[in-house]
Amino acid sequence: MNEHKKIQLKDYRPFAFIVDHVDLIFDIREDHTRVTSKLKMRKDPAWADETTPLVLNKGKFDIISVVAGDMVLLPGEYKSDDETFTLAATPDVFELEIANILKPDENTALEGLYRSGSILCTQCEAQGFRNITPYSDRPDVMAPFSCTIVADKTRYPILLSNGNPVKSGDLDDNRHFAVWEDPFKKPCYLFALVAGDLAVLEDRFTTSSGRDVALKIYSEKENIALCSHAMTSLKQAMAWDEKRFGREYDLDLYQIVAINDFNAGAMENKGLNIFNAKYVLADPQTATDDDFMGIQGVIAHEYFHNWTGNRITLKNWFQLSLKEGLTVFRDQEFSSDMNSRPVKRIIDVKNLMAAQFPEDSGPMTHPVRPDSYIKMDNFYTMTVYEKGAEVIRMIYQLLGQDLFRQGMDLYFEKFDGMAVTLEDFVGVMETVSGRNLDQFFLWYTQSGTPEISMTRQYNDNTGSLSLTFTQSTSPDRNQSEKKPFHIPVRISLINRAGETVKQEALYELTQETHTFKFENVSADIYPSVFREFTAPVRLSTDFSDQDLAFLMARDTDPFNQWRAAQTLFINEIKNLVTAIRTGRAMTVSSGLIQAFSLALEDRKKDRAFLSKALALPLETEIKDHFEIIDVEAIHQARTFLKQTLAKNLESELKTVYEICRPAPPDDISGAAMADRSLKNLCLAYLGCVPDKGNQALVLKQFENAGNMTDEFAAFKILSHMTPEMRDSACQAFYNKWQARTLVIDKWFSVQAQSRLKDTLDQVKQLTTHKNFTMANPNKVRALIFAFAMNNPIHFHRADGQGYEFVAERILALDKINHQTAARLCACFNLWKRYDENRRILMKRQLETMAGQKTLSKNLYEIVSRALE
Ligand code: ARG
Ligand code: ZN
Repeated sequence: MNEHKKIQLKDYRPFAFIVDHVDLIFDIREDHTRVTSKLKMRKDPAWADETTPLVLNKGKFDIISVVAGDMVLLPGEYKSDDETFTLAATPDVFELEIANILKPDENTALEGLYRSGSILCTQCEAQGFRNITPYSDRPDVMAPFSCTIVADKTRYPILLSNGNPVKSGDLDDNRHFAVWEDPFKKPCYLFALVAGDLAVLEDRFTTSSGRDVALKIYSEKENIALCSHAMTSLKQAMAWDEKRFGREYDLDLYQIVAINDFNAGAMENKGLNIFNAKYVLADPQTATDDDFMGIQGVIAHEYFHNWTGNRITLKNWFQLSLKEGLTVFRDQEFSSDMNSRPVKRIIDVKNLMAAQFPEDSGPMTHPVRPDSYIKMDNFYTMTVYEKGAEVIRMIYQLLGQDLFRQGMDLYFEKFDGMAVTLEDFVGVMETVSGRNLDQFFLWYTQSGTPEISMTRQYNDNTGSLSLTFTQSTSPDRNQSEKKPFHIPVRISLINRAGETVKQEALYELTQETHTFKFENVSADIYPSVFREFTAPVRLSTDFSDQDLAFLMARDTDPFNQWRAAQTLFINEIKNLVTAIRTGRAMTVSSGLIQAFSLALEDRKKDRAFLSKALALPLETEIKDHFEIIDVEAIHQARTFLKQTLAKNLESELKTVYEICRPAPPDDISGAAMADRSLKNLCLAYLGCVPDKGNQALVLKQFENAGNMTDEFAAFKILSHMTPEMRDSACQAFYNKWQARTLVIDKWFSVQAQSRLKDTLDQVKQLTTHKNFTMANPNKVRALIFAFAMNNPIHFHRADGQGYEFVAERILALDKINHQTAARLCACFNLWKRYDENRRILMKRQLETMAGQKTLSKNLYEIVSRALE
């Protein structure tokens, strides 16, 4: 394995040149595309002198011609290799024209210009633009772009790029052209081009200042009827950003294109978003309620980037969270306003705890602002995105809604059109609030999840309750010693009747230990702390299981009710794991069963909330609560708990299942979705008991479902029952949906996550299925990721075959798509946390990967960090 150089934040230097204009011409031909780039440039006197060479980033392609001013340069007069293009000297002001040939059909990495089906498209973030043409591929080099596309009119009737269409027309040989101009200066990672035979869904939006914006969503012709939810979501997002942040759209045209082969979720290219089709296409027959929510969130996310990311962009890639953390915070707030706020909060925190906490405790741990990277693509992480959003949320809470809005206004005013840093963002928040956020800034520079313990001391004589909070963060590869974080915590006090006796207020932890004293309260008062998950910390308290059962029923913050329920489940599972390991019989405490039953009977509770509160934590979440992860015991304990609850509460579960049924199957209102989620939770409990009656109930729902939410929920349950039930469900589902590639992804993922014994063999078989291909990231995620990340008992088979299979797939994938291969490899990251046998087996696979002669930089970085 070759060593690769780390790029460090401390080495940041501005580019020595200014790009005044970029003019691109794409001449699309049958088997290649010829790119001509005309750059107007000048030296930046602050950073360049007469000896400064021009060094541009460049991918692996051949240069055909270089013209500087009106001089044609010979190959000896410039230097070009697989990484850079260099001119030893340049005048102060100059024009440079470079032409090169690309082979988009051979671009399986899906970065730069590539083909997806019959469509040609681009993905440039983070550093894909250099694969299109030599350029200073960094976010702080901003320029106005124009783009001319020339192509065959039959194969590529639609030609799109950023900004506004300015000219188009026919040419000889059935060819045509289109010219686009983007008036806004932008970094090249926001460049985009699409050419293909696409259908369009059109709509309009009038901004608050009266700008009439044409909205266009493009997809393959057969899918255009599936774009209306995306369109509705876009209009909601545009209206919301005006209302909540005073941000208006700034061009006359907003375009979205749905693409089948895409490494990420979506991309915010100026005026031309490119989306993974999964986050655009939906109807109730083929998409679940979660898919509908996902689309609404991602459409909004990319739209919000127009201000947080595009108008104001990044000085360097280390600042990625400046746009991503902030934009995730914005999309979370949007989704909370559009749907149920508590439920959205629960979903987001669950996600953070299940994926970001483990990331931050393993080899990929990095501060929200990383100090170094080998491949930036590896840092599009839960930490940068989701923890980054939590950090913004903490600022929001420390300042309050009004000051935060003032800070945002100042941010937009002061930095519009610029490439800035996290210090600039936090700086405006300091300015408007008059607060010092120096210690707070550690959230950006220090990695790791702080552990907070809370204990209560009640003084009978004085009637005072003291809450003592202690914080500590484990040292890791980034910092051998951690300073205390500045941690906001929202606290309220409630009595046994569930009434608020002290209104919620914000407290701040800045030292290792803090005690807050509440006077004149009675002995049976409960503190409700870290309400709405005030800070991204691990919390342990001195609450007994009885206390937790009370809080689950009566806490005045729904998030904390959820947390209490989850903590009860985790405690129970921990006890069961201990019983398994010490050979004792497993039993579930009656208190838990009773708490669960009470919650189920509460007809006033929001059903969407209940479906979250009563769902057991996933095995992947549970493992985070163990020093050494015992895969089998965790699985056994969780299954036992689930079955015990189901057996004890069978009739209650059936009753709730029945009363949740009335909504029409294509109703996607919040209430209908809430009913379905609770109903399907009940069904999942009932279906985990091997009982003929329950099996029949699941099968009936599977066969008669009127929408994908119900069909898929039943399908998942059937996939765990018996090989016969699974196989016949798979057959039926496949026959029904084989023509719908996004639904077939669900079909793959259900099989990959089955608990049945032969799952690994099934998954291996499926890799040769005619609908499967390693070239399509959605397929790889549906089958291989789902198996490796969400099927712990089979991935972590004691014989190591799960590891062997996935490692072999990672290496195969690395040859064609290094971004996605590196992401997949994260399944080995926590290898040190398993028992010795698994530790050895996982390490062996990492070493096999490390021993390969050719490993992409992306995969190299993940593997070498894991083995460090
Ligand atoms: N900026 C895109 C977003 O909206 C994601 C780009 C992903 N790029 C990557 N190299 N993984 O979040
Ligand atoms: Zn983003």
